[in-house]
Amino acid sequence: MKIAVGNDHSATGLKVEITKFVESMGHEVINFGTDGYESCDYPIYGEKVGRAVAAGEADCGILICGTGVGISLAANKIKGIRCGVCSDTTTAHLIKEHNNANVIAFGARIVGSEQAKDIVKAYLEAEFMGGRHQNRIDMISKLEE
Ligand code: RB5
Repeated sequence: MKIAVGNDHSATGLKVEITKFVESMGHEVINFGTDGYESCDYPIYGEKVGRAVAAGEADCGILICGTGVGISLAANKIKGIRCGVCSDTTTAHLIKEHNNANVIAFGARIVGSEQAKDIVKAYLEAEFMGGRHQNRIDMISKLEE
């Protein structure tokens, strides 16, 4: 899969680790995040990843800021984006299985790097279940109109 990755300054180190991990799983990473450690604005990166995924340039996205929340809020403003914040592997697979989330977010100040890798793996290996869950996603999509 092609995976769009974005981050702010609080998550540059974790972004590098997650990129290596995702590449070791055989995926291609497109880096939309900052590579620096100077304070910057997370909405920029949430928007970039959201737009890339919504346009089909990437199959899904991974967003990391301090908490995962701010950057997810920005991504969720892009039409077609369903981004969920995860701090555990159960949420990580359920946001794909039930919500068909096309972007996952987490916080570099919240989860350690090993937990972050487990979260990413759980998300990437999960599959959308469809059925009644598709109806609910259709209801969410209608809210964008
Ligand atoms: C940056 O200090 C911090 O506010 C940001 O990374 C994020 O946690 C916002 O939600």
